[in-house]
Amino acid sequence: MGRVVVVGSVNVDQVAQVERHPKPGETVLALRHDRLAGGKGANQAVAAASAGAEVLMVGCVGDDDPGRAYAARLAARGVDVTHLSVSPGEPTGAAYIVVDDQRENTIVVVPGANAAIEAGWPDRFPDLHPDDVVVLQLEIPLGAVRWAAERAHQAGARVVLNIAPYADLPTSLLDLADPVVANEHEALLLADSGATASSLLVTMGRNGAVWDGEVVPAVQLTPDQVQDTTGAGDAFVGALAAALARGAGRIEALEAAAAAGAEAVRHTGAQPDGRLDRLPPPPAAGQGEPD
Ligand code: RIB
Repeated sequence: MGRVVVVGSVNVDQVAQVERHPKPGETVLALRHDRLAGGKGANQAVAAASAGAEVLMVGCVGDDDPGRAYAARLAARGVDVTHLSVSPGEPTGAAYIVVDDQRENTIVVVPGANAAIEAGWPDRFPDLHPDDVVVLQLEIPLGAVRWAAERAHQAGARVVLNIAPYADLPTSLLDLADPVVANEHEALLLADSGATASSLLVTMGRNGAVWDGEVVPAVQLTPDQVQDTTGAGDAFVGALAAALARGAGRIEALEAAAAAGAEAVRHTGAQPDGRLDRLPPPPAAGQGEPD
């Protein structure tokens, strides 16, 4: 059974709920505000741990109260934070999220300490094994993404590369991943870029997901079951990585990922029990506990 090694972002999500999104130049009043755990990397790490994987988080937080609270939270969710660094010069990353009545969101990310993750971090990077799954997204410097992907590839570990938020990447980097994970919007941008991925998994919301021609349907939910779609893609990726790390085949991994993505929209915020001012309850028996 391999480990899931997530190299990525840790953000404090400042979430405002509004009736409708403001137009440019307009101000609206929020109905509610929450300060929640987020960041695509950390969301994926928590999802992988919830799916039962042994998970290491490689990332960077600021030397501040949110960073300390977040590290404690990850540890309480069963994520190994030995390789989570502290950057004295930058605040912990933040994301400003606005969610409207229709459950549509907009997100602005302020990278903060996430931008301090550097390529060539040998002393802060764990030794990798061939059965590990290294999970990457694009909220950290692209040089660090490439470095981590190459290092994983050299170790014989599998790379799962989530191209979110979208950035153009060269085919030489995309080809290190199995799979590249994109939503429909990102997949279109990838196609427009002219680059290709030798292994491509596209998530299609209510229409399921397809991995190089192998399709799984989405879990269908009624509108009133959908609370907040923030982080659903991250839950999908985390559960996918956990399944691949335990040796699941493509269809089994896709089904586990689809179930986790559907579950994630049923709670507010990117992670279950995401409030940063209190530690989450311990994982339920059999979840997130190493064998
Ligand atoms: O994918 C959702 C995440 O994107 C949020 O948690 C936010 O932090 C941004 O990184």
